[in-house]
Amino acid sequence: MTNPAPEPLLALSNVNTFYGQAQVHFDLSITVARGHIVCLLGGNASGKSTTMKIILGLVKPRSGEVSFDGASLIGLTTPQIVRRGIASVPEARRLFADMSVRENILMGAFVRNDREAIAQDLDKMLTLFPKLGQRLAQRAGSLSGGEQQMVAMARALMSRPRMIVMDEPTMGLSPLYVDRVLELIRTINREGVSVFMVEQNASLALEIAHEAYVLQTGKIVLSGPARALKDDPRIRDAYLGGSEAA
Ligand SMILES: Nc1ncnc2c1ncn2[C@@H]1O[C@H](COP(=O)(O)OP(=O)(O)OP(=O)(O)O)[C@@H](O)[C@H]1O
Ligand SMILES: [Mg+2]
Repeated sequence: MTNPAPEPLLALSNVNTFYGQAQVHFDLSITVARGHIVCLLGGNASGKSTTMKIILGLVKPRSGEVSFDGASLIGLTTPQIVRRGIASVPEARRLFADMSVRENILMGAFVRNDREAIAQDLDKMLTLFPKLGQRLAQRAGSLSGGEQQMVAMARALMSRPRMIVMDEPTMGLSPLYVDRVLELIRTINREGVSVFMVEQNASLALEIAHEAYVLQTGKIVLSGPARALKDDPRIRDAYLGGSEAA
């Protein structure tokens, strides 16, 4: 009666990662289904950002497999991985502070050369992020944190990705911007982009994720549908903290 599980868009299988002698991932296995938002939760230094770097080819695992749309990403360079359809919104946004908002957004299209479609996509970004419209000529470094997050998201979308990976997209933002960024992630996802995001704020992440994984010192200790994890006492004790339940 059950349908066979469809092939995931992204799969990390038994990944072991080291920095020198120090092992950071222990048989890490994560899958992201097509069209889903998957969240990786975990405390400081648990190996979350390193997981993103593995997906983007910035760090090489010592063993294990990483595949996207059925093909291995191991050994590919970051630009090759972007061309396969993965775009990133790195930690702390990483904008070119002295360049304009427009230049930063267009940077995301570096893998494309369809000029007219790029111009159309820029217009589309201004529909999706209307606040950026008046700021296209402004120095990116002079934007507020929330505005910078939007530029980073627009830049990622300019490569027309099939998947976006994001490192702590709500970190350091005011509550208003946190809600806005989460809503934008939902909107992007509804348009067909799968999302893999790293978050420390479990209660926020579980609001928008389909599935979540909990990483503890490099090991997945808990995973499942976000709805189930939200009510799981283990995650509540470890990450949601009794007091902030709202
Ligand atoms: N380039 C590096 N060289 C050596 N060790 C590193 C390097 N990058 C990260 N580490 C170590 O690997 C471990 C995991 O780091 P990582 O950045 O993946 O954690 P994280 O879960 O993203 O943490 P945070 O919540 O603080 O962002 C940490 O102990 C960190 O010190
Ligand atoms: Mg990190």
